[in-house]
Amino acid sequence: MKAVYIQNYGGRDQLMYGDLPKPEVGDNDVLIEVHAASVNPVDWKIREGYLQKFLTYEFPLILGWDVAGVVAAVGAKVTRFRVGDEVFSRPAIERNGSYAEYIAVDERLVARKPKNLSFEESAAVPLAGLTAWEAMVEIADVKPGQKVLVHAGAGGVGIYAIQLAKAFGAHVATTVSQRNVEFVRTLGADEVIDYNARDFSKELSGYDVVFDTMGGDVQEKSFQVLKKDGLLVSIVSQPNAEKAKQLGVRLAYFFLQPDGEKLAKLGQLIERGLVRPVVGAVFPLQDAAKAHELSESHHARGKIVLSIR
Ligand SMILES: NC(=O)c1ccc[n+]([C@@H]2O[C@H](COP(=O)([O-])OP(=O)(O)OC[C@H]3O[C@@H](n4cnc5c(N)ncnc54)[C@H](OP(=O)(O)O)[C@@H]3O)[C@@H](O)[C@H]2O)c1
Repeated sequence: MKAVYIQNYGGRDQLMYGDLPKPEVGDNDVLIEVHAASVNPVDWKIREGYLQKFLTYEFPLILGWDVAGVVAAVGAKVTRFRVGDEVFSRPAIERNGSYAEYIAVDERLVARKPKNLSFEESAAVPLAGLTAWEAMVEIADVKPGQKVLVHAGAGGVGIYAIQLAKAFGAHVATTVSQRNVEFVRTLGADEVIDYNARDFSKELSGYDVVFDTMGGDVQEKSFQVLKKDGLLVSIVSQPNAEKAKQLGVRLAYFFLQPDGEKLAKLGQLIERGLVRPVVGAVFPLQDAAKAHELSESHHARGKIVLSIR
C-alpha cells in the first residue's frame, strides 16, 4: 500500500512516500481503507523526535493519528463493525498511523462516521474534537452561564472547544490574530481578542474556565483572568501548582486518551448541527511535507486534511 512514513527522526525531508506492507489485522482490530487523514501538531513533534521520552517506535513509522474511511476487514473478535461500515477514529498513538491507504485500529477506538460529513470533514474531528471534549465536557463540565476563555480559537482544537462550550451554554471568549476575528465569531465566540492588539489578561476577569492550548506566557497570564476556584486546563504543559494554590484556582493537564464511545457522542452533536469541523486546507497524501509546513507555521486555520482516496 502507499504510505507516508519516516525511517529516522528529523525534519520534513524525512517524510518518504512509497510502498509498505498492508497492516496485519489483530483479533480486536478493524482494517480501515483510509479515505482521509488529518494532520495534528503531534505528527511533526513525533517526526522531529520530540516525544522520544514518552513514545518508543520502530521504523519505518507511518505518521498520522486521525482517520476516516471504510471498514475493509474485521478481526475474529470484532463485534461492533462490519465490512463496508463508514467510520472515523483517533487510532492508538503507539501504533502506525493513518498517512496510508490502510490502517488497523482496535475497534474500541472506532465510531461510525457522522452521516452529514464527508470523509475529509470526518477525518478532521477525532483527535482535536476529542481533546476539546475532554477539556470542556469531562474535565471542566461547562455549565450554562459560565465564562470560558479558549486560547487559539482558530486552531484545530480551538474550533471545537468554542463550539462545545457554546453548546453547553457558556459565554465564550477567545484569542486569535486579526485575520481570524470574524471566523471565530461564526463558530459562536461572544468575545474575540486580537492577541497582537490587546492583552487578554488585562481585559478579562472572573472566568470560570481557561482552556490553555498555548503554554508559556499565555498560560502564565491566564491565571489572572480566573475567578477564585476557577479552572485552568492545559493540553500543552503542566501549569504552576504553587501559583494555583496561592490564587485558589484549580488545575488540570492531560494527554488525550481516545475512546470510540466518546467519539460517537461527539458524532451525535455533529449530526444535530451543534458542532462542525472546519477544514482549512486539504493536501494529497504525497504532499504531507507541505501539510506539515503549514502545521508547523502555528497559523493554520481549523484543520489540515490529507486526502487519500
Ligand atoms: N495534550 C493533548 O492531548 C493535546 C491534544 C491536541 C493538541 N495538543 C497540543 O495543543 C496545541 C494546539 O493544537 P492545535 O491542533 O489546536 O494547533 P494548531 O491547529 O496548529 O493551532 C494553530 C492556531 O494557533 C493560533 N495561534 C498561534 N499563536 C497564537 C497566540 N499567541 N494566541 C492565540 N492563538 C494563536 C493560530 O491562530 P492565528 O493564525 O490567528 O494566530 C492558529 O489558528 C499544540 O501544541 C498541540 O500539540 C495537545
